[in-house]
Amino acid sequence: MLELKGKTVFITGGAEGIGYHIGRRLAHAGMNIMLSDIDTTVLDKAVKTLKKEGFNAEGVKCDVSIPEDLESAAQKTIDTFGKVHMLINNAGVGASGPQQRIKENDWRWMIDVNLMGVVTGTQVFVPLIQSHGEGGWLINVASMAGFKGESFAGPYSATKAAVVSLSETWRSELGPSGINVSVLCPGYVKSRIYDSMRNRQECYGGPVHFEQILRKNPKLSILKEPVVTGIDTEIVGHRVLEALANDEFYIFTHPEIRDLVNMQFNNITEGFDQADASPVLDTVLPKESPNT
Ligand SMILES: NC(=O)c1ccc[n+]([C@@H]2O[C@H](COP(=O)([O-])OP(=O)(O)OC[C@H]3O[C@@H](n4cnc5c(N)ncnc54)[C@H](O)[C@@H]3O)[C@@H](O)[C@H]2O)c1
Repeated sequence: MLELKGKTVFITGGAEGIGYHIGRRLAHAGMNIMLSDIDTTVLDKAVKTLKKEGFNAEGVKCDVSIPEDLESAAQKTIDTFGKVHMLINNAGVGASGPQQRIKENDWRWMIDVNLMGVVTGTQVFVPLIQSHGEGGWLINVASMAGFKGESFAGPYSATKAAVVSLSETWRSELGPSGINVSVLCPGYVKSRIYDSMRNRQECYGGPVHFEQILRKNPKLSILKEPVVTGIDTEIVGHRVLEALANDEFYIFTHPEIRDLVNMQFNNITEGFDQADASPVLDTVLPKESPNT
């Protein structure tokens, strides 16, 4: 593992929740922390708290769906700390519902924040990390939903699957230039993710608070329950530090979900068995498959 002390991390969606607590742990490890977020009220409080505790922390407003925001936030990071060594693409949002009822605006919102935010963040920050030759890290925050599509969470699962896939791609692309890539895949973590629409930008329909959603449909409290009974964000922060020390690529926080993923692998294997036994394919494909 590369030395963390004195290095700089930039975290998207870092004002609260998982991003904030990873930042706090990295601050304890001696890193300079640049928190960024779309929500400046919560961001200002978070930065004040870290500074009060004696950490080297600053904040910058940044909506990850806006490339210019990421570019100016990167400039502020360099102006403040001189260099940047670690990017944590953490900002993420979710909205649930039966697939025929999820509006195009919400699809675009989740794609622009959860997927394009990660793509643009990486395009903006990786050259800066590569420029100093000291090596660094890229940590993408996906989800267990990226391994197993969750019912009624189509856009969220699809964007998180894309983030897992991109992380696998970037691991081999960026490793040779000294950038370690990891993908954090939590199960349920106690945060305000169920209330993501509080920060939905006007161009995607504007903010809606979970309390408003509940007033219309009290049954939707089922969206909040598993989150608020999830593991603590502090634990996730500690786990990420542990994983960095071990150079882990897939960073899991809920080992009990392994069985679900195994079921998924079994379904895939069954699909291959069926293809293997297929008389149709017998006529066209060689039995020995090439490495593609
Ligand atoms: N909480 C869970 O159960 C859980 C599980 C798996 C993965 N995750 C992922 O963890 C990450 C962090 O989520 P969390 O649980 O801490 O949720 P959270 O809602 O508590 O925190 C998300 C942060 O992102 C910010 N944000 C929202 N839209 C943004 C935008 N356009 N640009 C910049 N910042 C924006 C919010 O203001 C907030 O500070 C997300 O990517 C989420 O998908 C969460």
